[in-house]
Amino acid sequence: MYGKEIKKVLISKAQIDERVRELGKKISEDYAGEKLTMVCTLRGATVFFADLIRQIPNEMEIDFIAVSSYGGGTSTSGEVKMVKDLSSPIEGKNVIIVEDIIDSGVTLSYLVKLLSTRAPKSLKVCSLLDKPSRRKVDFKGDYVGFEIENEYVVGFGLDYDQKMRNLPEVCVLKEEVYAK
Ligand code: PRP
Repeated sequence: MYGKEIKKVLISKAQIDERVRELGKKISEDYAGEKLTMVCTLRGATVFFADLIRQIPNEMEIDFIAVSSYGGGTSTSGEVKMVKDLSSPIEGKNVIIVEDIIDSGVTLSYLVKLLSTRAPKSLKVCSLLDKPSRRKVDFKGDYVGFEIENEYVVGFGLDYDQKMRNLPEVCVLKEEVYAK
């Protein structure tokens, strides 16, 4: 399953499953009796999103949004481009943006600012991973699965050059792979 590019497994499937259950429980308690609109940010968050929504029993709509700030590179360009907007209005809705990782914070700052202008009833962010040491703009997630060090992570939705998203665990990539 793991090729020679992988240095180690950082977060196992069992650890992810347990944390996703906890996050789902917390969200369903915080929004008890409320309807939710869960927004998946393409593409990295898809795997986490699919697991998370099944841990939340609330009445729910799902929607998808895609923005890009990385181009083909490994660090943010700082400029966010809309690739695919939501399909439905979010006015008056309880919206939770679901991400795979908060890195520089640029993507989520942009998304929160953008979606706030559409008058949701509430707007929060849930991210599986958080790399606080990499922030370029001040940003804090409302629900965070794991805080991690500044290592290049792949798997469970996260890619290197669009590959490895299908690895079932969060893994660390060998430095020589991305330093090339
Ligand atoms: C990744 C990730 C977040 C963003 C986080 O997306 O999914 O959206 O970068 O980085 P930031 O905090 O520095 O903005 P990417 O643009 O690589 O697209 P992907 O989800 O399709 O992999």
